[in-house]
Amino acid sequence: MTSATPASVTVRAPAKINLHLGVGAPRADGFHPLLTVYHAIGIYDDVTVRPADSWSLALEPAPYVDAADVPLGDDNIVFRAATLLAGLHGRPAHAEVVIRKDIPVAGGMAGGSADAAAALVALDRLWGVETSDEDLFRLAAELGSDVPFALMGGNALGTGRGEVVESVRGGDVTRWWVVVTAHEGLSTPSVYRHFDALRPDASAQPAPPHRLVAFLADPVEAIAGLLHNDLQDAALDLRPELRDVLAAGERAGALAGIVSGSGPTCVFLCGSGDHAREVAAGLDGAGEVVLTANGPVAGAHLVDY
Ligand code: C5P
Repeated sequence: MTSATPASVTVRAPAKINLHLGVGAPRADGFHPLLTVYHAIGIYDDVTVRPADSWSLALEPAPYVDAADVPLGDDNIVFRAATLLAGLHGRPAHAEVVIRKDIPVAGGMAGGSADAAAALVALDRLWGVETSDEDLFRLAAELGSDVPFALMGGNALGTGRGEVVESVRGGDVTRWWVVVTAHEGLSTPSVYRHFDALRPDASAQPAPPHRLVAFLADPVEAIAGLLHNDLQDAALDLRPELRDVLAAGERAGALAGIVSGSGPTCVFLCGSGDHAREVAAGLDGAGEVVLTANGPVAGAHLVDY
């Protein structure tokens, strides 16, 4: 039985932070081997798709999101996601797509990856093509290193270039975060290039974060000292004012603060929702916008159809 085409489908996908980001020396293909602990947090993009006779894409950024640099043409990751999915099923990539963006652009929180993951799930439903999980994850990995995690959500260990994901413990333990976004994004490739310049001695395989993974379900104090980001020094070099943001978070009483992924977003671990709101108040004005969010949360999921 084939079900009727829905009038619209909305899929929500979360931002990610890296509780640990271990980076090795660049591989022959230019990508860096990673050992990372992904953690999905409650800041989301919503991708809504509707039936159409051609392709169209529009953005609805939240007031604090600067989406001026997001390409809307063939190089948009959502268009690439649609083309791959349509190609797999031998059908045209036709849809009217609207992305409601709450995840900062070029912020180190994998907003583009979230959009791609959400688009795969939404278009699969709109087109009624019933893609297998195996194919969805394969297409996700082809689209970008962080896209498989955006499908998966929760807490996950990421290996390879980040695209190989495996769920880890702590999925039922809520953590609270304050997120400070920056006025201007940072280009991920340029942060990796600067990492290469700073760390010519980086080993081929980054060390595994055994202790953090072991403590992921433990009280928050157990993980506060274990947050780590190998890209942080590179991001701080390229954007020195982030040092002030991290220092302000410490003064505001956060348990720990790190640059998220390739930055420039900084994230601060807190002990509770109330504590996060207190720290957020202390960080008011430290960046473009100060948000609170909890994690881990689900990966790309249907919210409306
Ligand atoms: O995979 P993704 O498209 O998100 O990667 C964006 C860029 O980030 C790559 O072109 C590369 O410069 C850098 N990158 C990397 N090593 C990784 C992931 C990303 O060098 N593991």
